[in-house]
Amino acid sequence: MEFLNRDIVSIRDFSREELENVFAVARGMEKNGYDATLLNGRRIALLFYEPSTRTRLSFQAAAQSLGAATIWFAGAEGTSVMKGETLKDTIETVANYADAIVIRHPYDGAARWAAEITTRRAAKGEKKVPVINGGDGRNEHPTQTMLDLYTILQSQGRIDGLTIAMVGDLKYGRTCHSLAYALGMYSCRIRLVAPEQLQMPSHVLSYLGSRGIECTQHAAIEEVIGEADILYMTRIQRERFPDENEYNRVRGLYRVTRKTLQSAKPTMRLMHPLPRVDEISVDVDDDARSYYFKQAGNGVPIRAALLAMVLGGIS
Ligand code: NCD
Repeated sequence: MEFLNRDIVSIRDFSREELENVFAVARGMEKNGYDATLLNGRRIALLFYEPSTRTRLSFQAAAQSLGAATIWFAGAEGTSVMKGETLKDTIETVANYADAIVIRHPYDGAARWAAEITTRRAAKGEKKVPVINGGDGRNEHPTQTMLDLYTILQSQGRIDGLTIAMVGDLKYGRTCHSLAYALGMYSCRIRLVAPEQLQMPSHVLSYLGSRGIECTQHAAIEEVIGEADILYMTRIQRERFPDENEYNRVRGLYRVTRKTLQSAKPTMRLMHPLPRVDEISVDVDDDARSYYFKQAGNGVPIRAALLAMVLGGIS
């Protein structure tokens, strides 16, 4: 499928070939530099209803490096949402101001809804404003997954054949859902480390089963650290817990220290979508296997590639 004017809502909307196409464009940009005229005169709206550092700033940096301008808000405070404006009305309005909309929202499905709104608008003769999901509730975070896969490829040279362990809040962690769905398109082994009440949702597990992925569930990092090629740590998603007591029971459960890494392969790479709370002790940052800041850096080429493909017709 063409990328031009395409919504980026779920990683499940993309084939492996399409993802690899994005990686190739990103790689080209890293190698040859960004074409600062490609999106001249275009405007990208960044609607962030939830906190963000990396996603918002890397989208903004990516847009700037291609010559596009950004308009944005960060937090619904200060917007008409506080007066009771619906998401529909905000999207209908912003679609008049921008050529693409990046949205992060606390509700699962908000990005799909926003994409439907701009599609309906296009059916009435307006131009289609593509919607990019910057994280919707506990559902998905597809652009994070693209940069995660790009990072795995960059650090290991392949994805097929690897053992990838995901650790932490697999229930509420949207980055893990999107990553697991994407890994289902490769032939890797998956290890899921979480307390029972925070294990991967069953819809993800059945998908991985249907793809014939060897996937096992574990309670402790020690059970998987020796075989992992990628250890993907995540934060316990405090804000998604319906009950603070439940959060308190699991906080601080997983922590990677220098000692943990003693059992890891020298070629293992430690990843984390960030922000970290206490899952990775700071003295691990200097270990050659720590890759999370490099991973965060990959947000710019990946998001620039996506903007170039969705708005600039690059393929
Ligand atoms: C993640 C998110 O927002 O889901 N952050 C990010 O975009 N890198 C991870 C998290 O908040 O834990």
